[in-house]
Amino acid sequence: MDTVQVDLPNGSYKIYVGTGTLEKLGEYLPFEKKNRLFVITNDLVGPLYGNSLVESLQQYGYKTLYQQVPDGEEYKSFASAEELYTCAIKGGLDRGSAVIALGGGVIGDLAGFVAATYMRGIPLIQVPTTLLAQVDSSVGGKVAVNHPLGKNMIGSFYQPRLVFIDLQVLKTLDPREVRSGLAEVIKYGVIQDRGFFNFLEEHLAGVKALDLDLLSAVVKKSCLIKGRIVEKDEKERGLRALLNFGHTIGHALEVMTDYRVYRHGEAVSLGMVAAAEIAADRGLLAREEAERLAKLLANAGLPTVIPFSADEIIPLLSRDKKAQGGRPRFVLPLGLGKAALFDDVEEAEIREAIEKCRKKEE
Ligand code: NAD
Ligand code: GLY
Repeated sequence: MDTVQVDLPNGSYKIYVGTGTLEKLGEYLPFEKKNRLFVITNDLVGPLYGNSLVESLQQYGYKTLYQQVPDGEEYKSFASAEELYTCAIKGGLDRGSAVIALGGGVIGDLAGFVAATYMRGIPLIQVPTTLLAQVDSSVGGKVAVNHPLGKNMIGSFYQPRLVFIDLQVLKTLDPREVRSGLAEVIKYGVIQDRGFFNFLEEHLAGVKALDLDLLSAVVKKSCLIKGRIVEKDEKERGLRALLNFGHTIGHALEVMTDYRVYRHGEAVSLGMVAAAEIAADRGLLAREEAERLAKLLANAGLPTVIPFSADEIIPLLSRDKKAQGGRPRFVLPLGLGKAALFDDVEEAEIREAIEKCRKKEE
């Protein structure tokens, strides 16, 4: 099994990456057998992997508690968390117990939030089952539930004890979810690693086809890039904000379409294309590099043409929770493989970039 290490002052952890390894999780858990494990999943992932995971944990000698929540972002809620607390209390979970989050980013964030708050915090194991969760949300400790007035509004930084990735589970993922995860993978290349961007250009077809060797390389590299950033800036005081490349306009698109039109990575893809346009207009990024990014995203099957006007998008930007004093913050690429945070992007520049991203349609 390959590992990526994340070193943090309050607890380092390993990200295990393997293929067909899900049922071996019990071998890697750092807990005594008398402790109870609370496996939290949803009603899509549960029937695929939940039962066999629980059986395997029991075979390793662990006592288990198992709960499914319905599938969907709307269940990343206080109401779901409350049901899970009830289940935990009734099931006798104590401070020696641990939560195992088996699912995509929704389950990882929700179960992570429950682990962070139940009895003031019990250990969390992330077992991510979407590409997005394997390369992004399971690493770095952001856990949250949504509030009716805003996504991810209530949460915490709560690092897992370990992350256990089985690439084989991606084979049952809807191809649209694979593409959504690829947007975050491409993001890492742009903000941190030109060589990785080149690698993705060269091997995209194989990655999309879920070639396991390529997936392994891509997931490990993504975890490594994210892990190194989190090590330097766990609480997002500066550097970690680079992970929000594409998220300023991407998030506005998700909000204006009520999270119903775009998968997260699709909105981020559009946001990256627009941010690259701003960077190219500022002379920070060669026009040819902005085009390479748009082409890679399009080849990944991600959208690159924004179907909304600047007038529709711009008012939402200042309401983003990452905006500072009503001014949107943008991560702009400085070439491929490097990026920086900008607070001084003028409305006219954003307007111009969005209009260019609309025109590509014609
Ligand atoms: P998701 O969790 O909704 O999963 C997408 C779909 O795939 C769901 O229908 C899910 O049931 C299904 N699924 C999961 N694994 C599967 C498998 N192996 N086979 C078949 N189907 C499977 O969505 P996501 O894109 O993984 O995560 C999005 C969430 O992650 C959002 O709530 C977002 O806010 C959060 N997020 C968190 C962070 C973080 O740092 N904590 C980062 C990015 C995104
Ligand atoms: N997904 C962004 C972060 O973890 O900071």
